[in-house]
Amino acid sequence: MPLLVWNDTMSIGVPEIDDQHKRLFRLANDVEATLRSGFDKEAVQNDLRILCDYAVEHFAAEEALMDMDAYPEYDKHMSEHMLCTTKALDFLEAFSEDKEVDMAAFLQFVTFWIHDHILNVDMTLGTFLRGRGQAPSA
Ligand SMILES: [Fe+2]
Repeated sequence: MPLLVWNDTMSIGVPEIDDQHKRLFRLANDVEATLRSGFDKEAVQNDLRILCDYAVEHFAAEEALMDMDAYPEYDKHMSEHMLCTTKALDFLEAFSEDKEVDMAAFLQFVTFWIHDHILNVDMTLGTFLRGRGQAPSA
């Protein structure tokens, strides 16, 4: 059973963003699968980097859709992205530098964060964008 399993209740009703979320799921699952297949540090590091890079790219795509003046959750949404980015990049750096890291705790954080963020903060963004006609209504 993969770490993250997509289901339709996670759709925020904006196909472009839903597709990006699905890809995030796949990349997080890749990290876990690589870990499970035996500890190859380079391979794990590579998967972690791909996940972090894509998360940053995805956050930027969401942020580009937000209208700073009109979207009431702008600050909250931005700070959640920032916190996640910082935590993920710090972890990647520590892992790359062979510092002691708790991989299980990190994967637990990623799993919880992705679910919680999509079901709450991104869902609110989806409703906002659909209300403005920036996405097809669900
Ligand atoms: Fe978001």
